[in-house]
Amino acid sequence: MKNTKSMISTIYQTLHAADSQELEGIYKDWASDYDHDVVELAGYVGHLITSSLLLSKLKNKKARILDAGCGTGLVGEILSQNSFNNIEGVDFSQEMLNEATQKKIYQSLRLVDLTKNLDYEGNLFDAIVCAGTFTCGHVGPEVLREMVRITKKGGYICFTVRKQEWEASPYKTIIDDLESSDFWHPVVHKTADYNVKEGVTCQLCLYQVN
Ligand SMILES: C[S@@+](CC[C@H](N)C(=O)[O-])C[C@H]1O[C@@H](n2cnc3c(N)ncnc32)[C@H](O)[C@@H]1O
Repeated sequence: MKNTKSMISTIYQTLHAADSQELEGIYKDWASDYDHDVVELAGYVGHLITSSLLLSKLKNKKARILDAGCGTGLVGEILSQNSFNNIEGVDFSQEMLNEATQKKIYQSLRLVDLTKNLDYEGNLFDAIVCAGTFTCGHVGPEVLREMVRITKKGGYICFTVRKQEWEASPYKTIIDDLESSDFWHPVVHKTADYNVKEGVTCQLCLYQVN
């Protein structure tokens, strides 16, 4: 198992990968240690804060939920423990999806690159949750428009954006544009803990589609 020093180094590597191929290679090697490393060593809480915020609003246990950038299934585990079982997961790392498969939580798990157009029809999901995936060198804010497109009216989109990524990319511009164009409105948007042991915060966002 990696110690804290090498853990910081693994996170550092994911945030500074030269391209998506390199990033995929890092997750391939990291998948089996990911849960332990992010939770125990970095104090990651992205899965906890998104799940808990979404669960505070989502009352229909049959809600169709997309876990975007599901990784090993940390979010799915919590939703499933709360009797939400209609969950689909997508991620671009087969090895991360393999870890999620072993948890036997998801209705389906698909290899999907979130930086491309999503091959889902419109108005499909009651909720989309995206924890830990809006981060440096991973997935940028453009996919938020696609997420709105495939979410039902009245549905929720709940996500974190790591502090450094929020500062580096035009999240605010796209989020505000979606709001002023009347596509969604904010329910909760605040600064929250993220990797507690690293002292890193995030923007925690819950938006409802109009
Ligand atoms: C920090 S992990 C978060 C995983 C999970 N949501 C969680 O809370 O533990 C980021 C995830 O984003 C995935 N990812 C990175 N780039 C992606 C892309 N372009 N399309 C889909 N998934 C991507 C990685 O494979 C990884 O599983």
